Amino acid sequence: MNLGEDVMGFLNEVQSIYSKAISFASGRPDAKYFNIEKFSEYLDFFIKTEVLEKGQTENEILGYLGQYNRTKGIINKEVSKYLWKDEAIQALPEDILITVGTQEGIAVGIMTICNKENDVILVEDPAYIGITHFSKINGYHVDGVPVTSNGISLENLEEKLQHYSSIGKRVRVVYVIPDFQNPSGVVMSLENRYKLLELAEIHDFLIFEDNAYGDFSYENSPYPTLKSIDKNNRVIYLKSLSKTLYPSLRLSLMVVNQSISVEGNVLKLSDLVSKTKGYITVNTPSIIQAMFGGMLHQHNFSLKKMNKEKVLGMKEKRNYLLKCLEETFNTKNNSWSNEVKWNYPKGGFFIRVKLPFEVGKEEVVECAEKFKVIFTPMSFFYLNEGGENELRLAFSNLSLEEIKIGIDRLADYIKNKIENLKK
Ligand SMILES: Cc1ncc(COP(=O)(O)O)c(C=O)c1O
Repeated sequence: MNLGEDVMGFLNEVQSIYSKAISFASGRPDAKYFNIEKFSEYLDFFIKTEVLEKGQTENEILGYLGQYNRTKGIINKEVSKYLWKDEAIQALPEDILITVGTQEGIAVGIMTICNKENDVILVEDPAYIGITHFSKINGYHVDGVPVTSNGISLENLEEKLQHYSSIGKRVRVVYVIPDFQNPSGVVMSLENRYKLLELAEIHDFLIFEDNAYGDFSYENSPYPTLKSIDKNNRVIYLKSLSKTLYPSLRLSLMVVNQSISVEGNVLKLSDLVSKTKGYITVNTPSIIQAMFGGMLHQHNFSLKKMNKEKVLGMKEKRNYLLKCLEETFNTKNNSWSNEVKWNYPKGGFFIRVKLPFEVGKEEVVECAEKFKVIFTPMSFFYLNEGGENELRLAFSNLSLEEIKIGIDRLADYIKNKIENLKK
């Protein structure tokens, strides 16, 4: 894939042209679980709480919410309690930044920490394209490390660290999605979590831990996040609320508790990141933060109970999609389907399917037009080569009925392709 290409724009366009097609392309959360009508109640709750806690009038609080505000955020105390309660992460309010989505967190983090001449950003390959594309477009040196069934390959990571050190470059950031990785669905093993933290200490790099899907765990209890076991402050934590709550909030929680030395002065990295953010988005909308703050207060700083039904709903979809794949492709009568394989993700929104032929943009259009189903080629997520004969199915925003019809249509497409290949 050429990183200059706008692959998400391409998929959106295909979805809008073939609007009747069933789309497994985007990992959007299911709007069935939205409760937008409660937003005003949460906002009111926040205002009332502030009146009580700050001893100010309602009008003063309203004025404050209508103004420009603190760049790091206005609900950091509430978020600190939430991170402790739901994620066992200890973060001081001043080490938290409330950003405009994880995408902004990635951008301001990289812009503050990395220099374009000597620093290298290593990312899981394949990975969420938000970081690779941001880095490339802005001229940062970004390189990939393969993902294994236990997360980022530590062997390969060590080789890259040595390679870059031998040519006088410095790996500054390693970006990982330890839980239910997008796009592969893989989970980083517990052993590898500790080893990665150790490597960060030995080789002096920072880890960007992107936790967009950790709440969607469908099996045993998930492993601890890297941040919750990060004794040496090596991890910058990015917790998007887009999947946990609503993408429209554009809210993410960033924990930056490192200090760095600049010209002999020790500075808090969170202050430097905040300075960068100040020149990009000034501050994250206060009214949205207040609404989320009210939600946290109302739910006693834990979202687990509120999200239980949603997580169970997603698990049902994953199970149903796996069942459909099993029933469609794993039958003895279908010789053509024996070469179609898929993984069994323990959480998240995605299933990865291996095919006996390559798929790219042309195949996406062909399949959408003739078979009315849309998928994402895995190659879209690789930095250079890889994933040519794989596709990603996102099941989060489809009903069970759509999943069934979609898999039937995908099977027709795959069968047709294989039969044509044999001719
Ligand atoms: C791994 C990962 N990180 C971050 C995001 C986007 O986060 P946000 O909406 O908070 O910018 C996504 C969205 O698909 C994602 O898959």
